[in-house]
Amino acid sequence: MSKDTEEYEKVADKQDLQRTALLKVESGGKSIVLSMVNGEVYALDAVCSHEGGPLEEGKLEGYEIECPWHGSRFDVRTGEVRSPPADTPQSVYEVKVENNDILIRRNPESKAQGQPVQTQAS
Ligand code: FES
Repeated sequence: MSKDTEEYEKVADKQDLQRTALLKVESGGKSIVLSMVNGEVYALDAVCSHEGGPLEEGKLEGYEIECPWHGSRFDVRTGEVRSPPADTPQSVYEVKVENNDILIRRNPESKAQGQPVQTQAS
């Protein structure tokens, strides 16, 4: 039950992300945007918390993604808002890179600055 590999799902090849800087993937019914900064891969909700803009179509500058609709900026490491109008952080997902595979953890981290969500097993 607690096997690490079962909690992670392959969502992309590393090469695909290296080509595009931002890459949208689907996992668990969620749209997630992958980004790579300084060789590290980050994953956060692709749907902007402001009015639902597609973050994968935005710009990546340093550790910040800028939403293409109204210019909110989010830190890809924590999901925190760096620039309004958004005022709600994006969910972030734990990422593992194994060889050429990008895997993300099925349960997102909490939206509140890095606090993990406690999920109840049903
Ligand atoms: S929808 Fe992203 S900033 Fe408005």
